Amino acid sequence: MKVKKGQLVELEISGIAFGGRGLARVDGLAVFVDGAVPLDLVVARIVKKKKQYAEARVHTLVKPSPFRIPPDCMYSGFCGGCKWQFLNYHKQLEYKQQHVQESIERIGLIRDVPVHPTISSPAIFGYRNKMEFSCSDRRWLLPDEMGEEGVDISFALGLHVPGTFYKVLDTHSCLLQPELGNHILDDVRTFIKASDAPVYGLRSHTGFWRFLMLRHSVAYDQWMVNIITAKEDLETVQPLAFLLMDKYPQIISVVNNITSRKAGIAVGEYEIQLSGRSCIKDKIGDFEFEISANSFFQTNTLAARRLYHTIKEYAGLSGRETVVDLYSGTGSIAICLADGAKKVIGMEIVESAVADAVKNCRINGVSNCQFIVGDIKEELARIMDRPEIMIIDPPRAGMHKDVVKRVLEMAPERIVYVSCNPATMARDMGMMKESYGVLEVQPVDMFPHTYHIESVAKLEKRGQ
Ligand SMILES: C[S@@+](CC[C@H](N)C(=O)[O-])C[C@H]1O[C@@H](n2cnc3c(N)ncnc32)[C@H](O)[C@@H]1O
Repeated sequence: MKVKKGQLVELEISGIAFGGRGLARVDGLAVFVDGAVPLDLVVARIVKKKKQYAEARVHTLVKPSPFRIPPDCMYSGFCGGCKWQFLNYHKQLEYKQQHVQESIERIGLIRDVPVHPTISSPAIFGYRNKMEFSCSDRRWLLPDEMGEEGVDISFALGLHVPGTFYKVLDTHSCLLQPELGNHILDDVRTFIKASDAPVYGLRSHTGFWRFLMLRHSVAYDQWMVNIITAKEDLETVQPLAFLLMDKYPQIISVVNNITSRKAGIAVGEYEIQLSGRSCIKDKIGDFEFEISANSFFQTNTLAARRLYHTIKEYAGLSGRETVVDLYSGTGSIAICLADGAKKVIGMEIVESAVADAVKNCRINGVSNCQFIVGDIKEELARIMDRPEIMIIDPPRAGMHKDVVKRVLEMAPERIVYVSCNPATMARDMGMMKESYGVLEVQPVDMFPHTYHIESVAKLEKRGQ
């Protein structure tokens, strides 16, 4: 059968593909179906047709897969925040393990690597300690809101719908964050709507209110509210900070990040502390961390404990090693490893994260860590010591090829590669495979109900 763009086709979903999409075959042609899971029978519309593959969207669910469960969230199927709420959690864990294994084999071209079953997240709802909600002057309407009278389509504060960068869902409740976050979100929405300042248009790039970022401390049940605006205007923003601090004793910090950049990133060019503190404190295991608004911190605090336990196990420290921790963020991995190492050197590009890391060492009584601020691409060349162990935890894009080259020159005995993107992890390990064997990989689920997966890989220098 010939498949054409726009056509409706009946498909039996046989597997899961990159990006969490269902995979079906039509006369050998791979069709990737958004919103479908294995064993679904669907009628889908072809939205893209290439020589090697096609992409489709579910039009009608003819026979649901036995792996489907009723989603708890009203936005499920529309919201880009979590796309797998309708898939039973055990299957999510299984598909994530499979995805890591396939990436290593197909992208890294590395065979016979043991990939262990995914370690689950202790909580599968309310687990996110950080949420970012976007403001928009264009609201994405749910099907039952279409044609409803009195719906204001010129305002939204919420999460994105995949495929539309400028339309945003007016999210009233997100189950990935603790419940209080939803009350704060609603109060901020009410305030913004009543204010004279306009919301930011993601296409027009005009307007004032841009993002709302909420951080939650699991250990202390405290909150940070970060309001991101396009300009500095304390007269408009300050009353919101006072309102929130008065209403919620759990909020201990309200800051305002200001950015005139067009990029849709909730990081300011500078920050103003509006009320309370500039940081929030949380714990991973026995260690305490101060986190400021723009510093990276693992978004699932309870699962981070399981992740760090695996990192420590794979590092296999004896107390004599020098460890280099690349992409060190707020220093959390360095601090968790410090008591097993002679010294840990962290490297990180965000200045405020390094300031947090230094403070965090002090708070935890750790004296054998040092941190270097800067781009690893330049800074790594300046380290002359040969570390026995390297921890590498890059952002989604993975390592720059010059960094891979420098790591190979430094030739540590062991590398623990930590990654939130199996594809770039596999690519980077593929570049190192002549010199390093991949002994085992442990996927750790930090992101339930999404297809994202964190992995820890243990690499050892060949010929040791
Ligand atoms: C996935 S996070 C890891 C953070 C930390 N290891 C942890 O577990 O909390 C990646 C970190 O890499 C930093 N980063 C990104 N590009 C960088 C670069 N070129 N040089 C140094 N650090 C970089 C980011 O700021 C971020 O803190």
